[in-house]
Amino acid sequence: MSNNLLAGKKGIIFGALDEKSIAWKTALKCHEQGAQIVLTNAPVALRMGEINKLAEAINAPVIGADVTNMDDLKKLFEEAQTHFGRKIDFVLHSIGMSINVRKGKHYTEMNYEWNQKSLDISAMSLHRVLRTAWDMDALNEWGSVVALTYIAAQRVFPDYNEMADAKALLESITRSFGYHYGVKNKVRVNTISQSPTRTTAGSGVKGFDGFIDYAEKMSPLGNATAEDCANYCAFMFSDLSRYITMQNLFHDGGFSFTGVTGAVIEQMEK
Ligand SMILES: NC(=O)c1ccc[n+]([C@@H]2O[C@H](COP(=O)([O-])OP(=O)(O)OC[C@H]3O[C@@H](n4cnc5c(N)ncnc54)[C@H](O)[C@@H]3O)[C@@H](O)[C@H]2O)c1
Repeated sequence: MSNNLLAGKKGIIFGALDEKSIAWKTALKCHEQGAQIVLTNAPVALRMGEINKLAEAINAPVIGADVTNMDDLKKLFEEAQTHFGRKIDFVLHSIGMSINVRKGKHYTEMNYEWNQKSLDISAMSLHRVLRTAWDMDALNEWGSVVALTYIAAQRVFPDYNEMADAKALLESITRSFGYHYGVKNKVRVNTISQSPTRTTAGSGVKGFDGFIDYAEKMSPLGNATAEDCANYCAFMFSDLSRYITMQNLFHDGGFSFTGVTGAVIEQMEK
């Protein structure tokens, strides 16, 4: 159902890999709410071809950009503005990649070159995106930028590995750049800290199945779905959330503030 929350708004969505991706669901939701979208992903992800289905469904162009490459980002923002005929209203940063996790390296044995790459793709990339938009003056006043994060930035989830550090950095950049962009142009920058969700990136974490069940039992409302995360993103891109900035917003069914639940105690007593 559409309330036309995003009527007339123009946005760039990073990170739709396949239909499980949070970015994919967010693109559909924003389109349904009246927004016009430009989709982008790394060239290697575009070669999978899946994104073309989404592009067709929402009538959006796809512009390739490796988020660690400043020339790619500049080209993306230039082409997106040409397509829209004006500046951008919102950006979704839905990007994560851990080379150490991928290659099975334990946190205590981290390869630092891979770690640099992981931090660049997963965290510094938000700075790169904001910096590109800043230099080009590409975001409208009251524009809204959202990046997706996870509670491993605050608490230890051992198998989340170097991504915990990446998310902590991502959330810090959100506050720091959010301050400067707010002062300069009333642009808002926030992170949404999402429940574990079955996607390609999510399933890369060791023991994910047990973990997602545990989170479900530890959340009074249960795990938030990708569709619900898309709803929250649409709200954050809308004018209904204008004074929210520099925040890390938990979207996790209450997990973050729950010490223990009846369901978990019951299981411990068995
Ligand atoms: N799935 C979960 O459990 C969960 C929970 C909380 C937060 N998140 C976060 O949500 C975001 C989206 O992940 P997802 O779960 O939808 O998985 P996903 O695998 O569908 O999305 C990750 C995206 O990052 C893109 N990417 C990787 N390297 C890139 C590069 N160099 N340049 C541009 N794009 C690149 C991938 O192509 C992919 O589209 C990530 O930041 C992830 O950490 C996921």
